[in-house]
Amino acid sequence: MKIRRQLLSASLVPVLLIHLAAAVLPDGRFHGNIVRPPGVPRVTLADPDAPVVSRNGTQLPPYSTTYLFDQLIDHNNPSLGTFKQRFWHTYEFYEPGGPIILFSPGEQNADGFSGYLTNATFNGQLAQQQNGSTIVLEHRFYGLSNPRPDLSVDSLKFHTLQQAIDDLVYFANTVNLPMPNGDQLTPDKAPWVLVGGSYTGALTSWTMVNKPDVFFAGYGSSGVVEAILDFWEYFEPIRLNMPKNCSADVHAVISHVDEVFTSDNATAIQAIKDNFGMGDMTHLDDVAGALRNNLWDWQSLQVTTGPGGQFFKFCDALEVKSGQVAPASGWGLDHALAAWGAYWRSTYLARICGKSTAEDCLGTYNVSQSFWTDTSIDNAGRSWFWIVCNEVGYLQEGAPVGHSSLVTRLVQPDYDLRQCQQMFPGAFPNGVNVQVDRTNELYKGWDVRINRLFFANGIRDPWKDATVSAAGINVPSTAEQPIGLGDGFHCSDLLTSAGNVDATVRAVQVKALASMKSWLATWKPTPIPRGTPAPQSEPAVIEQTVHQHEVKPINAFVKGAGSG
Ligand SMILES: *[C@@H]1O[C@H](CO)[C@@H](O)[C@H](O)[C@H]1NC(C)=O
Ligand SMILES: *[C@@H]1O[C@H](CO)[C@@H](O)[C@H](O)[C@H]1NC(C)=O
Ligand SMILES: *[C@@H]1O[C@H](CO)[C@@H](O)[C@H](O)[C@H]1NC(C)=O
Ligand SMILES: *[C@@H]1O[C@H](CO)[C@@H](O)[C@H](O)[C@H]1NC(C)=O
Ligand SMILES: *[C@@H]1O[C@H](CO)[C@@H](O)[C@H](O)[C@H]1NC(C)=O
Ligand SMILES: *[C@@H]1O[C@H](CO)[C@@H](O)[C@H](O)[C@H]1NC(C)=O
Repeated sequence: MKIRRQLLSASLVPVLLIHLAAAVLPDGRFHGNIVRPPGVPRVTLADPDAPVVSRNGTQLPPYSTTYLFDQLIDHNNPSLGTFKQRFWHTYEFYEPGGPIILFSPGEQNADGFSGYLTNATFNGQLAQQQNGSTIVLEHRFYGLSNPRPDLSVDSLKFHTLQQAIDDLVYFANTVNLPMPNGDQLTPDKAPWVLVGGSYTGALTSWTMVNKPDVFFAGYGSSGVVEAILDFWEYFEPIRLNMPKNCSADVHAVISHVDEVFTSDNATAIQAIKDNFGMGDMTHLDDVAGALRNNLWDWQSLQVTTGPGGQFFKFCDALEVKSGQVAPASGWGLDHALAAWGAYWRSTYLARICGKSTAEDCLGTYNVSQSFWTDTSIDNAGRSWFWIVCNEVGYLQEGAPVGHSSLVTRLVQPDYDLRQCQQMFPGAFPNGVNVQVDRTNELYKGWDVRINRLFFANGIRDPWKDATVSAAGINVPSTAEQPIGLGDGFHCSDLLTSAGNVDATVRAVQVKALASMKSWLATWKPTPIPRGTPAPQSEPAVIEQTVHQHEVKPINAFVKGAGSG
């Protein structure tokens, strides 16, 4: 089947909203000085409650219909029982023999990801090309998919990369999908394609390495496959791709801040703190580390954002002086320091901290704050930080001495590892020792060599240097494990809208669709591997149907419900 040229049309753009990290104001769960999670962009449809019509005209439930799957709490001890794991699903493009395309938005509440069921994303393009069905599965310990009622240290012992991998496998092997023959579509009977972005882009690779016979093919977008403790390289794609004048001036200011903050000139130190509206803050590493926020804004850029994002407002604030734009060398320290400070005092501090004081919002030493103590569910930051502290690191620090840094060198891994102890008291009695080596050994990191796994990356993605496209790593791109590198940002290649405006991103999508087409043409059913559990006997339960239109109850479509 040939790839549809219409995919290039811009007709989809008006109906979908891509939420690019809207300003997060402090609510006790936001903190302005904590390492950022990677994160797949949310793709929300304008009307997720509208009825869906399949290719032959049958009306299907709306994309917003939420289903519940009985997932094992502990894959090492099934006797602990199950919890409800949310998922979303459609079979609008499905024809018998087509693939089941499984995607998880990973480290966030999965509400608002309905675009990943449709051709607004790569997932739906693949389904449309291959007659597939799409699924969005909420990850354990995020949103409303929780094995335990809270996010306490005791509960989080079930939050590991291995449990997440095992969730995907158990889901595929046992789900009774709410569609015709939904209990006859396990990976031995239908080809499953695992798709992920960012952390779940890595999880796609880790799952195929760890459980090689379940998913027939995989697609990892911006997959951060290599766990890295001191991930100062996060800022490298930003430094190399941002406007030159802006990087020159940020470099000049940060070098100065570090020089003064490591001196004993109290007057000069106070002057810098006051310059940024952080005069009352106690810890200099918090003050200097807070300036990372302007660089973190890069992560919410997409090819569709153009130069209109928050990051560019920051560069404009530094580089445009009385209507004049600085040359590539920037304006130099004096103007840049004053302009960056004015920007913080006039708008930026309020943007990230709302009405909180700078110390409450950006200080990281007060362990009485609810940010550290609140263990209630649906707190993605806390759940992700557990994985950071235990298995992946990705600490976003200043570059080593001798390498140009846009980030203070006062922030080093110890700064974040102290936060691990503050957030999870008692969890690290012998000090925090993030098991990055174990993670890379178990799941192979950059050494992954797996058949039918496609990696898609972006040159401007801040996470690039943890992916197989990392600078200096030279993972080979082969027919069986291709690497598509476009000019995109984080996970750009998952977004149809990004392919519509950037030909290099579209080229990655086209290459992946071609690989998938040739791989899927070779798929054959296999005997059930020994020990594979039978599908769950009841079809997945509808939690709610949030649409206004009348739709047949899902059970009416399910053949063989109750058997299994
Ligand atoms: C995307 O899917 C919708 C159905 O959900 C279809 O109407 C539309 O034509 C598809 N877009 C393209 C570009 O194929
Ligand atoms: C139309 O598609 C639906 C959903 O895929 C399927 O259940 C039904 O059997 C199809 N009807 C015909 C007449 O092909
Ligand atoms: C998709 O289904 C149609 C109709 O059954 C069929 O003609 C086509 O070959 C299928 N495409 C693939 C890639 O299987
Ligand atoms: C200088 O900064 C402006 C404003 O941010 C930007 O538009 C321009 O591209 C920059 N020029 C160079 C040469 O870096
Ligand atoms: C301390 O810094 C202030 C303000 O930058 C400067 O005027 C003063 O000379 C410095 N003092 C010393 C001892 O370097
Ligand atoms: C620490 O946080 C608590 C709770 O928000 C607050 O009541 C207290 O004043 C804070 N202490 C300091 C020194 O800021």
